[in-house]
Amino acid sequence: MAMVCLSDFEAYARKYLPKIAWDFFAAGADDCSTRDENILAYKRIRFRPRMLRDVSMMDIRTKLLGTEISFPVGIAPTGFHQLAWPDGEKSTARAAKAMNTCYIASTYSTCTLEEISAAAPGGLRWFQLYIHRNRAVSQQLVQRAEALGFQGLVLTADLPYTGKRCDDVRNGFRLPPHMKLKNLEGAFEVCKRSLLDPSVTWNDIYWLRSLTHLPIIIKGILTKEDAELAVRHGVQGIIVSNHGGRQLDGGPATIDALVEVVEAVQGRVEVYLDGGIRKGSDVLKALALGAKCVFIGRPALWGLAYKGEEGLQDVLRILQDEFRLSMALAGCASISEIGPHLVQFSKL
Ligand code: FNR
Repeated sequence: MAMVCLSDFEAYARKYLPKIAWDFFAAGADDCSTRDENILAYKRIRFRPRMLRDVSMMDIRTKLLGTEISFPVGIAPTGFHQLAWPDGEKSTARAAKAMNTCYIASTYSTCTLEEISAAAPGGLRWFQLYIHRNRAVSQQLVQRAEALGFQGLVLTADLPYTGKRCDDVRNGFRLPPHMKLKNLEGAFEVCKRSLLDPSVTWNDIYWLRSLTHLPIIIKGILTKEDAELAVRHGVQGIIVSNHGGRQLDGGPATIDALVEVVEAVQGRVEVYLDGGIRKGSDVLKALALGAKCVFIGRPALWGLAYKGEEGLQDVLRILQDEFRLSMALAGCASISEIGPHLVQFSKL
């Protein structure tokens, strides 16, 4: 089977993953309208390409909080990579390093942070945190990540409770017994209820700040009000995200929310986006509307399901090639030439 674009990996994963794993990866909340809207919204945006601009030498590198990456696509935090590939997050770390991009490792990884670090020493990694009811567990995780050389702390803000994902409920989804949330082993005895703390507020950013020197990036912001609060509370980055449509159904596509967040932030912190990125041209649209970088969630899992580390590298390489080509065809030879002039929203 020729793997030409990301939908080929999706088709492969749908065909070969056990149904319960496929359904968990694919799930959106409720009617999945926000999940689907993340993708549809890109199709409503049209380019205003420029011609005759010497695109013989292309430079698609960029920087994330000062660290260079090979192109503006990283790997969003997703849980349970061993459901896609036996080596799980170790393969993800290796692929990200090989492609010189950023991997955000989830709290809900099936490998330990130590295993992830050892798999790809020196790779650019951020750690994604869900704050737990037992704050000592979260504190210890943050400090472990910092000691292991993770370079950013991503606080996911949109999951006080898990959204209602109907297929997971129908399937009775749970991790197979041989897989573990390895970073939280031991924590389950402490908390018998849901582990996540729904009482988290903006003040907890100050608590995190007191624990670590790492830059704090907040994930799950969709409005200008929250973007302003994020900046005021001293974060270094914002990820515009709706959790791939897995939390509140009926919210906006992230590419639509990006515009108001970028306007509110006015360049004071870096703004990133995830949700619905399936083509290099989607990346170009997001950058044109002000994202510094985008992250992929499900496509990374499809790559892992195809061939582990190699499959994920294939996914990233395809996106990279498509992005470079879209840039060139739109008349941009470097990232700094991308701006809002490149897009129009269609009147459809
Ligand atoms: C997620 N996401 C997520 N986010 C997070 O902060 N911590 C996590 O552990 C997870 N886990 C997770 C599992 C699965 C299976 C999916 C699909 C998503 C959300 C993720 O980081 C990201 O916001 C979306 O996946 C982006 O949308 P796309 O690229 O999947 O369309």
